[in-house]
Amino acid sequence: MRRLVSSLSALLLSASVALPAAAAEVNVYSARKDHLIKPVLDAFTAETGIKVNLLSAAEDQLLERLKSEGKDSPADLFVTTDAVHLHKARVAGVLQPISTPALTAAIPAQYRDPQGYWYGLSARARVIFYAKDRVKPSELSTYEDLADPKWKGRICVRSSSSAYNQSLLAGLIAVMGPDKAGQWAKGMVDNMARKPQGGDRDQISAVAAGQCDLAIANTYYFGGMQTSSKAEERDAAAKVGIFFPNQQGRGAHMNVSGAGLAASARNKAEAVRLLEYMAGPEAQRLFAEANNEFPVRSGAKLSPTVGAWGPFKAETINVAMLGENIAQAVRTFDRVGWR
Ligand SMILES: [Fe+2]
Repeated sequence: MRRLVSSLSALLLSASVALPAAAAEVNVYSARKDHLIKPVLDAFTAETGIKVNLLSAAEDQLLERLKSEGKDSPADLFVTTDAVHLHKARVAGVLQPISTPALTAAIPAQYRDPQGYWYGLSARARVIFYAKDRVKPSELSTYEDLADPKWKGRICVRSSSSAYNQSLLAGLIAVMGPDKAGQWAKGMVDNMARKPQGGDRDQISAVAAGQCDLAIANTYYFGGMQTSSKAEERDAAAKVGIFFPNQQGRGAHMNVSGAGLAASARNKAEAVRLLEYMAGPEAQRLFAEANNEFPVRSGAKLSPTVGAWGPFKAETINVAMLGENIAQAVRTFDRVGWR
């Protein structure tokens, strides 16, 4: 019997030597816009020879697909935006934990899941934008202050169905407690210049057009407008100032785009290698620059556009906390009538 096994394994060994080795590849499900992720994937393939098969779709669509495919999913790596979506993927069981020295060294603890189910790869702040001709930066201070009656009818902000607003309120629940965060959300509704509509860029544009004096938006939208090929977007951005809140206290609200190893991963080694590559210095620069974001890797260089906003204090709570408070945030929005 032993001889049979050893001759069998010798046969298998010679067969695997004789056959051409299958090309190494990795399957990526990505909710990021293609032009934001492609340069990083191409650089990875050029460096490692590992082919990347990219499937791009919206966050929720990809999550549903991962759930329905289950163990049979071809996905090796899931790339998505916002801690909310990363959290949903973890809770849905479509990710598996991974921890490597390279990942934990590259990515600060506040920007990754404590159990390694996902890693933040680029960071954004959700901050205040103000009309330069109507608001002095000295009038601005904190997120809390935006709920003050002095801003009545002056604030533009998008709908509460946005993951970005859900994350913002989830973060406030974590730092202020649910009661105070609820009062804040109510105060914001009272101060809105109009019913929530449009995306983050539309809020910044509305400030420039005089429809409101303040807006809340993610930093990269402002960077996108400042560097836009459309003159009207550049002109709008020029009328608007960026203000990082809570600089005397806990710092500005942060969020991430990130990735996690798929529970179904068959090309696990390649997927981990890609994840580590994405956390490396070159990919961090490409990632951050492509979308005017902040690299998560400490010491990585900022793009000129992002660097021009100046240094600021970022909140240090783990962004995984945001996902945990999301259900409560959604209930709070409903209760205070933030549509
Ligand atoms: Fe966005």
